[in-house]
Amino acid sequence: MTTETLARLAGEVCRITGEAAALVRSMERPAVYEKEGHANFVTAADLASQEYLISHLAPLLPEAAFFAEEGEHDGLPAGLCWLIDPIDGTTNFIRGARCSAISVGLVAGGEALLGVVRNLYTGEVFHAVRGGGAFADGEPIRTAATPLEKAIVMCGTTPYLRELAGETFETMQRIFLRCGDIRRSGSAALDLCSVAAGRSDGFYEARLSPWDFAASAAIIREAGGVITAGGEPLDFGKVTTVTAGSREVHDMIVSCLPSGGEG
Ligand code: IPD
Ligand code: CA
Ligand code: CA
Repeated sequence: MTTETLARLAGEVCRITGEAAALVRSMERPAVYEKEGHANFVTAADLASQEYLISHLAPLLPEAAFFAEEGEHDGLPAGLCWLIDPIDGTTNFIRGARCSAISVGLVAGGEALLGVVRNLYTGEVFHAVRGGGAFADGEPIRTAATPLEKAIVMCGTTPYLRELAGETFETMQRIFLRCGDIRRSGSAALDLCSVAAGRSDGFYEARLSPWDFAASAAIIREAGGVITAGGEPLDFGKVTTVTAGSREVHDMIVSCLPSGGEG
């Protein structure tokens, strides 16, 4: 697909995510259900958002499959595929913390072709397509060049997998001692977009699912940043470690992993 075709598609995805966000915001006290893992929830709004996104994205690209967070999955389908997180930051959403997003990525052949991340509350939309640059509300964005000692690194705690607490917090301590400070927001997609926009400098989480990072992977790359699975190429079919940032901050984060970035 050409950059122009992808850019047209991204415009449609921005519109559809806006409609899904309005639907989510219109739902008063949506029901909350428990999922597998520690303190892992899904709400009726996640389900409504996902259904809306799938039904409106499908006609745009009839040949594309879907790999979406809620419901049954059977791995990443081959070929063109939409990766959808209908609400990233569900716990924030339940608590009214106003820090959640809708994330829609399009991947093919191991490459992120398009990404749209919409903040549910501010309405700010980050988007990128392969070869077309990255944007926040239509304005070009770039990763920052903050020196390591002043760099802000966004961290996720892999909350649903308690067995990774040791790995996570030991890695975060090593990162903390090498940078300016760390942050934890509760939405990996928004964290990654803040890195893309140069509002922070790096990102680390021990395990994320493909729908958490697919859209932001396109946005970070097009903003001039680096995003990998702990130094290895991202795999959109796997739950994986995610490391991102400017080249310098990314490499520092990888060097803080338990393996020191050697696999
Ligand atoms: C979660 C958020 C959170 C991250 C978790 C994700 P969800 O996504 O992105 O920041 O720490 O690992 O699973 O469950 O709110 O869609
Ligand atoms: Ca998520
Ligand atoms: Ca989610």
